[in-house]
Amino acid sequence: MTQIQVIPGDITQFAGDAIVNAANTTLMGGGGVDGAIHRAAGPALYAACEKFHGCPTGEARITSGFALPAKYIIHTPGPVWRDGRHGEPELLANSYRNSLQLTDEYGCQTVAFPSISTGVYAFPLDQAAPIAIRTIREFLRTAQHVQTVTMVCFDPVTEQAYQTALNA
Ligand code: APR
Repeated sequence: MTQIQVIPGDITQFAGDAIVNAANTTLMGGGGVDGAIHRAAGPALYAACEKFHGCPTGEARITSGFALPAKYIIHTPGPVWRDGRHGEPELLANSYRNSLQLTDEYGCQTVAFPSISTGVYAFPLDQAAPIAIRTIREFLRTAQHVQTVTMVCFDPVTEQAYQTALNA
């Protein structure tokens, strides 16, 4: 029986199989959750990311979790919000779907996501949350290994948006 959970917290503390990083296309770190994950994983993560030579928006790359409690980190650059008419919704769905596919390929049963693109990338939260929940639900219908997907929300407004989308 698969499930989706929405919890408050800091994703670097997640002790499941994999966490997803809201990265940028260089994969060379940044602020927000990307910065938090690189700080917590340690400098070996930077070296592991260099070998990818970047990652296109909506795609995903996997590394070890290094010093994190999670075994793996899935790095996905979400879309930068412009006006919603430049493929942003589809690219956000791709980030969730491609991250889940990679997680499943690596046999993970539990995976945590931050709220991709709703920080620095300014994707409206009330549009991003339903896209995320719908994409995760769709994936879980055919997942081979993934059992539980957890949205780890850094603030109460974000948590409420995902809880609302989950209950819709
Ligand atoms: N745990 C969970 N969520 C977090 C954490 C954390 N430790 N830190 C921040 N967040 C949340 C933010 O509050 C926001 O809800 O992650 C969500 C995504 O925000 P950003 O980190 O700004 O990511 P995004 O909007 O996708 O922008 C990506 O920002 O940090 C840079 O290198 C990154 O260029 C990329 C861009």
